[in-house]
Amino acid sequence: MKPSAEGGTDQVRRALCPGSFDPVTNGHIDIIGRAANLYDEVTVAVFVNQSKSSLFSVDERKAMLVEVSAEYPNVQIDTFEGLVVDYCREHDIPVIVKGLRAVSDFDYELQMAQMNRGLAGIDTLFMPTNPEYSFLASSLVKEIAKWGGDVASLVPPNVLKRLIERAGPST
Ligand code: PNS
Repeated sequence: MKPSAEGGTDQVRRALCPGSFDPVTNGHIDIIGRAANLYDEVTVAVFVNQSKSSLFSVDERKAMLVEVSAEYPNVQIDTFEGLVVDYCREHDIPVIVKGLRAVSDFDYELQMAQMNRGLAGIDTLFMPTNPEYSFLASSLVKEIAKWGGDVASLVPPNVLKRLIERAGPST
């Protein structure tokens, strides 16, 4: 709880930013930072998806997120397996924040948002991505890095270093 102007306490406003984050990009960081300005507490949760192969382990993805979110004291990093709405209920988080890059994101995100609302009354806030990052996706970053392309402007330095080590052409 945080103190209110009237001297009582207000409910802490919590939000969840879920995703694969394989790896986190500057586009994700933009959304996380803006969510951190809107809510008292923001949890960034890495989804553990056993059926999808990933470049980085869940622990590595979490570690990179911990490093890049250090400047936001109200952001914490976690992992989850299962339904995102169950995570929200268990942690008393009423809102999911999702970045929308383009209209092409909208159909699927709307479907998930409506399903999550129907399943558990969890709302989703869509945040338009900074146009600077509207083309940015973790999958593209991995592919470009794999062939030695320059992704320095797309990911933070700690992620760039790990990407080159893990996926660069000489590996
Ligand atoms: O970064 P991504 O891969 O686009 O993130 C997708 C993610 C993890 C947010 C989404 O797949 C999700 O919420 N998965 C958790 C499982 C779940 O709740 N599925 C039902 C959604 S209606």
